[in-house]
Amino acid sequence: MNNKHSLQMTVVYDNNPSSEKLQADWGFSCFIKGLEKSILFDTGKEGKILLSNMENLGIHPDAIDLVFLSHEHKDHTGGLNALLSKNSKIEVWLPNFFSSIFKNMIKNKGASVREVTSFKKICNGAYTTGIIKGWIKEQSLILNAEKGLILLTGCAHPRIVKIIATVKELLKENIHVALGGFHLAAYDESEINEIIEQFQNSRVKKVGPCHCTGDEARRLFAEEYKEDFIEIGVGKEIRVQ
Ligand SMILES: [Fe+2]
Ligand SMILES: [Fe+2]
Repeated sequence: MNNKHSLQMTVVYDNNPSSEKLQADWGFSCFIKGLEKSILFDTGKEGKILLSNMENLGIHPDAIDLVFLSHEHKDHTGGLNALLSKNSKIEVWLPNFFSSIFKNMIKNKGASVREVTSFKKICNGAYTTGIIKGWIKEQSLILNAEKGLILLTGCAHPRIVKIIATVKELLKENIHVALGGFHLAAYDESEINEIIEQFQNSRVKKVGPCHCTGDEARRLFAEEYKEDFIEIGVGKEIRVQ
């Protein structure tokens, strides 16, 4: 793929604490700078917390061109309403199965809705996987950095291993960083180790499991990935060439 980018990602919402001036709360949101458009991936659960964390991190609502929503769970979509009250010029990319109540809320704010079904370019350097089927359907975000692909997942409900396989199938390139909720809290140690092995077999270079990944899975990923494990918490900044 052409158009490789140097990216800066800032976690603005996560249940894992990292900085005293920021509020940790159940949910996930990450701000991405360095592409043609500035993207907010998911919006956390509470608008108040999202906006106050953004303010403390120096991210103005006007700096966001586009919001990408992984799935319609409150801990990923709850902050959108408050954000659109501050900036209604935002384009909101969401899977087409979102409720009409939610889509209408966006339109009533004066913002635009982009409904996703399948793999698509969002702007230079950013792609949606399209809807990935599972017990709860979800879309994931793919960014094209110079070092390789960056994968952002919300809760990874369709299963993280399936999402990784989908990305590799779609873009035929290795994943440099996989970051977000991996949803492994219900898995036992041997199951998690098997999943980590699949990550390594798929040549996922670095991992930043957070949000709903589960503490045990985070610990096992840290043990296995060593210096390639990124400890994520609210306020964490990740730069990728
Ligand atoms: Fe979640
Ligand atoms: Fe979820």
